[in-house]
Amino acid sequence: MNTIAQVDIKELANEYGTPLYVYDEQKLTANYHRLKSALDKYYKKNSIHFTIKANNNISVLKAFRNAGSKVEATSPIEILLAESAGFSGDEIFYNGNYESREDLEFITSRKDIKINLDDYSSFERLLEISKTAPERISFRINPGIGRGGFEGITTAGSDAKFGIPYEMAHDAYQKAKESGVKRFGIHMMTGSNNLEPYYFAEAVDKLMMIAHDIFSGLDIIPEFVNIGGGFGVPYYDDEPELDVDLMAKLIAEIFSERCHKYGFGSPELILEPGRYLIANAGYLISQVTGVKDGYRKFVGIDAGMGTIARPSLYGAFHRVKAYDNSNPEEKVNICGQYCENSDILAKGILLPQLAEGNLVTILDAGAYCYVMASSYNSRPIPAEVMVWDGEHKLIRRRETMDDYMNLYNF
Ligand SMILES: Cc1ncc(COP(=O)(O)O)c(C=O)c1O
Repeated sequence: MNTIAQVDIKELANEYGTPLYVYDEQKLTANYHRLKSALDKYYKKNSIHFTIKANNNISVLKAFRNAGSKVEATSPIEILLAESAGFSGDEIFYNGNYESREDLEFITSRKDIKINLDDYSSFERLLEISKTAPERISFRINPGIGRGGFEGITTAGSDAKFGIPYEMAHDAYQKAKESGVKRFGIHMMTGSNNLEPYYFAEAVDKLMMIAHDIFSGLDIIPEFVNIGGGFGVPYYDDEPELDVDLMAKLIAEIFSERCHKYGFGSPELILEPGRYLIANAGYLISQVTGVKDGYRKFVGIDAGMGTIARPSLYGAFHRVKAYDNSNPEEKVNICGQYCENSDILAKGILLPQLAEGNLVTILDAGAYCYVMASSYNSRPIPAEVMVWDGEHKLIRRRETMDDYMNLYNF
């Protein structure tokens, strides 16, 4: 693999150094439009809120804004980033969990954002802070079912730390209503990287039944139903893509049918995807720093667990491609330079023979990659570049040794 959006990867590495995150603007925009037009086809009153936790670069947020997206934020700084990228309050959906008083103070200082709380206890803290009930509130419900690509990205069900167990949710809404809230929504997020369209319809059906149980006795008509994100991308060559059209159709059918049955009218259907919109538009370019023939063949590169945490954090897989494909293939372990034996990016994969200085590209690195980078082993966090149509520009500079020395110099 030697180009991204018609830009030579070697040119990017020479100009900006490695390791380097690169995002293809046209690809991320196309991902947004594919999902949006599938939803529009089957249920018009929908909104997509790109989840900033997947990728918080302001240029990325601006690209999504230009495409028509709204955003989901999970912390005060994510709200500030959204505002800097030009999003207005009503385009920001805030999702907390175990929200601190400081978080809540910040959130209530913002006008019009949709506040979604993880628990009733958060609502009580919010009331103490703001003294009066907010006009509108929603709660994240744990619908009792959860599914993710693997355990570490499953976010509902009995083991999940998120959301109000659905059996307790009625009380939360009742108390919120009694304290003066006038407008309501409901939310769930059951897991990430799901590739099975029917799963989403099943989860929506469950949420709608829960919503009916909660709202029917309280005389509440929900203004919106947020079904979260979780729309997957293939990380392996032989994995199928998520059939977005079928998924949108299945979701919309069950959603409309249940809205009609339960007398909900036509609430806004909100989706807050991250991975689906940006994962495959991101690339991590890295350079081979050393090759070792030991018990196994190890190819060491300048990107590792501090640059891209997902493999060491929860065993996620990312494809790795060599810039130069002319050498014969061999089985290798790709590792970083970090002092942890879990610093292995890929085990036993076939790659053309590599030598010091060669370039490799790690695929699907747009979501949950840069944002999880750390300065472990005091290695600087990489730069980010946007590419489109043979053009490129720096969108976040690399950390430098001076940044470190300034931090420590007090
Ligand atoms: C509350 C919430 N919404 C949306 C998302 C986005 O998920 P995904 O990137 O799988 O679409 C997440 C990710 O974990 C989340 O926690």
